[in-house]
Amino acid sequence: MDQQTIEHMITLAIEQLAFSYTPYSGFKVGAALLAKNGTFYTGCNIENAAYTPTNCAERTAFFKAVSEGERAFQAICIVGGKNGVLTEYAAPCGVCRQVMMEFCEPDTFQIILATGIEKYDIYTLKELMPQGFGPKDLA
Ligand code: THU
Repeated sequence: MDQQTIEHMITLAIEQLAFSYTPYSGFKVGAALLAKNGTFYTGCNIENAAYTPTNCAERTAFFKAVSEGERAFQAICIVGGKNGVLTEYAAPCGVCRQVMMEFCEPDTFQIILATGIEKYDIYTLKELMPQGFGPKDLA
């Protein structure tokens, strides 16, 4: 992935923090998902008074994309922090990693964790979900 695309994805993810709905945790997360065809899908976390219906930023982005017919993805950028202050990487939760397993190739799908345009690291899905269970296991 080229530098310009990485920086664009970080910018899109940071923009999502403004839409993050977090009256309970105050932990704001933004995501930018890149489809293989070059389309970007964004997402934020959306909390709920009943707590468990809360949806993570990553899954918001994936579900927006899949609900519009997209199923092939190359990368996601995730940013997050308490009150939207980005000091540490916000790594995807286990449920979001499992959703990635459904639609992404573990060896090649890139997960960009960032605190800003100057500070990021890139991991493959396989690195964050070793020996993950996915559609291939049911084939
Ligand atoms: N959260 C995400 O949006 N993505 C993750 O991968 C980790 C957790 C959200 C859910 C909840 O709104 C808040 O962060 C605190 O758990």
